[in-house]
Amino acid sequence: MLIRIRKPTDISAREITPEALYLDRRRFLAGGAAAALGLGGGGAGRAEPEGLPPVLAGVKPGPYGTAEEQTPWDAVTSYNNFYEFGLDKDDPRRHAHSLKTRPWTVTIDGAVHEPRTFDIDHILARMTLEERVYRLRCVEAWSMVIPWVGFPLSALLDLVEPAGNARYVAFETLYDRSQMPGQRSRVLDWPYREGLRLDEAMHPLTIIAVGLYGRVLPNQNGAPLRLVVPWKYGFKSIKSIVRIRLTTRQPKTSWNMQAPNEYGFYANVNPEVDHPRWSQAKERRVGEFFKRRTLMFNGYAEEVAALYAGMDLRKYY
Ligand code: MTE
Repeated sequence: MLIRIRKPTDISAREITPEALYLDRRRFLAGGAAAALGLGGGGAGRAEPEGLPPVLAGVKPGPYGTAEEQTPWDAVTSYNNFYEFGLDKDDPRRHAHSLKTRPWTVTIDGAVHEPRTFDIDHILARMTLEERVYRLRCVEAWSMVIPWVGFPLSALLDLVEPAGNARYVAFETLYDRSQMPGQRSRVLDWPYREGLRLDEAMHPLTIIAVGLYGRVLPNQNGAPLRLVVPWKYGFKSIKSIVRIRLTTRQPKTSWNMQAPNEYGFYANVNPEVDHPRWSQAKERRVGEFFKRRTLMFNGYAEEVAALYAGMDLRKYY
């Protein structure tokens, strides 16, 4: 990411939201359960306790969960990268209220048989929502464990029938300077763009997230829908998506355009390939003091290593 001031590895435990500020997970879940029972609402017009977003209905447990301790809600929603709302970690939480997430459409086109524009509520009505507890490893060497709510990206792409020559998938975030004040600065070439190879996009681990902790995704986390690719560095997980395009050629991606020697197209979590300015061997789990070893493919090697068989991962970083 844009490291203007200091190296991300220099982030001290103190700068990461202090533990005392975190909601205790059990307390949080008790609140969620109360809301699910109808005590907290979720319906239009009913006040949510403590300003939490509404509970999502019909969420099923999904595959691939990790039993590791989950990063508390307060940290997940106040320590963010979303440059459309500023460069500091707490800027998205403070400023992302200006984003309007309804009405919202996503256009999926390019190398597909059935190009379409979907309304987000139409997508939500068609998809089975699952909870997937994934590790998120940021390129800045911090990590979190997040209970996402979403559905496989493959289920969405199937609706437009990818053509035989489709090889890649390109994603774009909304471009609207009135809603996203950070786009008035030239820190990135807007809109934010990301891309995957089609087989990565169709992999069952790759999801579109629409929620967190059983609740509607907060704006700062990429509402109303964002990508989550758990074996890649966090910057691949593009937020507030409005366009998905299937392509025959490798698409341009924001951070690769910005600094190609620092951020590759693949961006697979790899403790053996250092960022040019810092090591990727260790990470600090947000809320913990000691660093832990970073795992190959962020711990998902068993599921995804075969996608890269025979590739030189130093070259394709
Ligand atoms: N998507 C957009 N549109 N803009 C961004 O600045 N930052 C990325 C990614 N998606 C970013 C984005 C980076 S660097 C990270 S680490 C993750 O979002 C952070 O996701 P989180 O804030 O939900 O933890």
